[in-house]
Amino acid sequence: MCGIVGYVGSQSALDVVLAGLRRLEYRGYDSAGVAVLADGGLASARKAGKLANLEKALAERPLPAGATGIGHTRWATHGGPTDANAHPHHDNAGRVAVVHNGIIENFAELRAELADRGHVLASETDTEVVAHLLAEEFSGCADLTEAMRLVCRRLQGAFTLVAVHADEPDVVVGARRNSPLVVGVGEGEAFLASDVAAFIEHTRSAIELGQDQVVELRRDGVSVTDFDGRPADVRTYHVDWDASAAEKGGYASFMLKEIAEQPKAVADTLLGRIGVDGALTLDELRIPAAVLKAVDKVVIVACGTAFHAGLIAKYAIEHWTRIPCEVELASEFRYRDPILGGRSLVIAVSQSGETMDTLMALRHAREQGATVLAICNTNGATIPRESDAVLYTHAGPEVAVASTKAFLTQLVACYLVALYLGQVRGTKWGDEIRAVIRDLAAISGEVGRVLETMEPVRELARSLSGKKTVLFLGRHVGYPVALEGALKLKELAYMHAEGFAAGELKHGPIALIEDDLPVVVVVPSPRGRSVLHDKIVSNIQEIRARGARTIVIAEEGDEAVVPYADHLVRIPATPTLLQPLVATVPLQVFACELATARGNEVDQPRNLAKSVTVE
Ligand code: G6P
Repeated sequence: MCGIVGYVGSQSALDVVLAGLRRLEYRGYDSAGVAVLADGGLASARKAGKLANLEKALAERPLPAGATGIGHTRWATHGGPTDANAHPHHDNAGRVAVVHNGIIENFAELRAELADRGHVLASETDTEVVAHLLAEEFSGCADLTEAMRLVCRRLQGAFTLVAVHADEPDVVVGARRNSPLVVGVGEGEAFLASDVAAFIEHTRSAIELGQDQVVELRRDGVSVTDFDGRPADVRTYHVDWDASAAEKGGYASFMLKEIAEQPKAVADTLLGRIGVDGALTLDELRIPAAVLKAVDKVVIVACGTAFHAGLIAKYAIEHWTRIPCEVELASEFRYRDPILGGRSLVIAVSQSGETMDTLMALRHAREQGATVLAICNTNGATIPRESDAVLYTHAGPEVAVASTKAFLTQLVACYLVALYLGQVRGTKWGDEIRAVIRDLAAISGEVGRVLETMEPVRELARSLSGKKTVLFLGRHVGYPVALEGALKLKELAYMHAEGFAAGELKHGPIALIEDDLPVVVVVPSPRGRSVLHDKIVSNIQEIRARGARTIVIAEEGDEAVVPYADHLVRIPATPTLLQPLVATVPLQVFACELATARGNEVDQPRNLAKSVTVE
């Protein structure tokens, strides 16, 4: 949520910053802006709307060339998405420029103070106060880094700030509390960004900033301190993917590319976690066996698509470990005074590792003495850093706002944790675990097979682009899959879409069924739990009798559904608990295609951002 870039070096700062912003646009696209230090002064440009608007403005009115600069792409919180509210913000003398991600909670009070001292604030944002405060502090110490430390000590809330001052033309200063900020270390140049993707084409050497730290960037190096000026320990790490992973690679959208990458993402997430004997090796978790053995409750906290992964994981965790498992929306979790203790295992699932609701939930859990395990796709992000342990998903960078490959890998990671708990606690035999692992290992290929048969789904999606509503039904693990199918359609196609437990239909939602209403039904396997299967076949008949147009997702060989399916989508036969890994894929393709047919931009749906760093 909001993307920030900073650069100091010998290249054109404007080019580096704009390229970085392009990579960060997934974080917000309400406005964009840049500032460059050149010719002893500060030049900036900012524009409401997507980055393309800013680029157009810059083509008409170029900025002077400089080698130090900052940039911002915004997801609006305080103040509408206008030119005036776009970042960077400045002091009244136009010597300071600052960009910000997060919310400064005491900004109203600071703003009033500044107004009393004669400052004129030109925007409705919380950020602008920082530019004015920095200018005041700088006039006292003539050191932007020290000024930043002094200002940060006065701010409340979540903030990543990056600033430049015309009087220190070779310095970029950043500060971090709660929102992400990563340093890129190059040869004679340095970068700051919300995400390594912004500078990956220049360097793969990165430093993750810790909580409440200030970083000073110069051409010849970086120095990190806390807000009181004490030097901080920093750890440089190597980013294990390259620029091509953050490119569309010939696909029309990142979402299409990421859907197509799912077989690899699933396989990569299993890689190195299965021993030669087929047993699970999750020693990387580093949670002592005694702690895992003592766990008496698992609580999964997450948001959005990651929450749906958690809902599915609950079935596997309870089935394989017999430990009670709750799944809760992170934004609701801490406000209801959840019952937690030293024997609770809280699993925080997050692709970005920076979702503020999830971060706050995990902090609350740790305060209650729970052990927190993060399942995360972003190396070194705040959520894994603040957890007791982490299991990384290896989906590679996910850029499209709507999560696809991260979701599948979150499921795989949750299953691995569940099996590992079963292994450590002895609730599952070794050969049982090996059998599930074998099935999981085969899933990557099955996802690939699903992807090869999606043309009829795309055609169907296009034919439904004029519809207002689509409903989704499922039972057992198919129920969260239905919720995820509906979420995808809402976020991408801006349609009314709802997911229901098929058995709950008769208690209310069936009143929504009307003639030709598309209803997607995720059908459990007829093998194994055939009771569920039989019941859903009855549900399909019930809605069809009331006029629904049924779109049935059923495994190969399931003939019982054929008479009641207006459209039939086949998925490979898999064990019941693993079915979501294949059943979700047609729903992603369906939503993506339908949204495209409606003329929507699938990578950047309206009003959304990929990383939500506000509560
Ligand atoms: C945002 C995104 C969703 C995502 C959710 C959780 O709302 O638009 O696609 O599922 O955040 O994100 P996380 O990074 O914590 O998995």
